[in-house]
Amino acid sequence: MTTIPQQRRTLTTTTGAAYSRIWGVGGYRPERVVTNEEICEHIDSSDQWIRERSGIITRRFAAADETVVDMAAAAAHEALRSAGLTASQISTVIVATVTHPYQTPGAAPIVAERIGATSAVAFDISAACAGYCHGIALANDMVRGGSATFVLVIGVEKLSDFTDKTDRGSAFIFGDGAGASIVGPSDVPGIGPTVWGSDGSKWKTISQRHSWIDVRDGDVDWPAITMEGPEVFRWAVWAMAPIAQAALDQAGIKAEDLDAFIPHQANMRIIDSLVKKLKLPDHVAVARDIAETGNTSAASIPLATQRMLDSGEAPHGGLALQIGFGAGLVYAAQVVVLP
Ligand code: COA
Repeated sequence: MTTIPQQRRTLTTTTGAAYSRIWGVGGYRPERVVTNEEICEHIDSSDQWIRERSGIITRRFAAADETVVDMAAAAAHEALRSAGLTASQISTVIVATVTHPYQTPGAAPIVAERIGATSAVAFDISAACAGYCHGIALANDMVRGGSATFVLVIGVEKLSDFTDKTDRGSAFIFGDGAGASIVGPSDVPGIGPTVWGSDGSKWKTISQRHSWIDVRDGDVDWPAITMEGPEVFRWAVWAMAPIAQAALDQAGIKAEDLDAFIPHQANMRIIDSLVKKLKLPDHVAVARDIAETGNTSAASIPLATQRMLDSGEAPHGGLALQIGFGAGLVYAAQVVVLP
């Protein structure tokens, strides 16, 4: 048994807000719309196959000179506007991304500087398609723990830079974009417990083809992100429904209490299967942004949230269940009150 040595002084620690909530959401979609026909110029496939097997009709690709930082800053401005806050009130910037093309420095400090949140705590997290939900979990704990006041959480990807456009198994899935939200203090609960975890034994199922060391030392192609589609599909369908259900249970919420279900936009068939497994009643609005936006990894949930709020599909102040899952493999789910 370990005994704690008696301290001469007691440490002073921080305590934060009683609860946290999402104050505002924003999104940025690049201008260029890419059709399935354009994707099929490089792979043996068809518009019909892509629509039927993934639900994707179009996706957006960023311009050649448009960066992860540019898109993140654009989404951040929208989120600030929606929250009615200024950049100087942001104490922390978390950027979830796997496509910022610099190993170091992270994108977050540059984004913070770009938007005017100078000297904010700023760091990136790598949790792929679950990155945004990881960011919300961290932000909630930081606000309630007293290490942050307002946290800007951004999910952003320029997957077009990391996709092999000749790979039949992945070329049609990915898109570019950024979504952001701001988490701040609240007198009432606005973010439920996060149910999260990982299965590193499946790390190879979604991965860059080669490491940077292979690129340096070997005669290898650009290390695009590829995946073992059917295996990922099975995992998402079978393993993620219980995680989403656990997030509901831990928040003390029943499926019929929800106003919206906002899963990661990975594949329309995965979304449909989760809706069925969770027995969501018809009145629960389901995010289907993938049809026009593709799979934007960390950006997909905040982008879908913004679309649902802007279109009136989901109500401001309503209850939404969100779940992210992807490369790692990693996952995170929570119930949130929509801003
Ligand atoms: N166009 C046309 N046909 C294709 C194709 C394409 N792009 N890719 C595969 N096929 C063919 C295969 O050759 C196979 O043909 P066969 O039956 O004659 O052998 C058939 O379609 C089925 O292939 P399969 O790989 O089993 O397809 P699928 O139904 O699993 O769909 C995905 C493929 C990628 C859409 C699907 O596996 C998926 O969405 N996986 C999860 C992806 C995901 O969510 N990734 C991100 C996680 S965050």
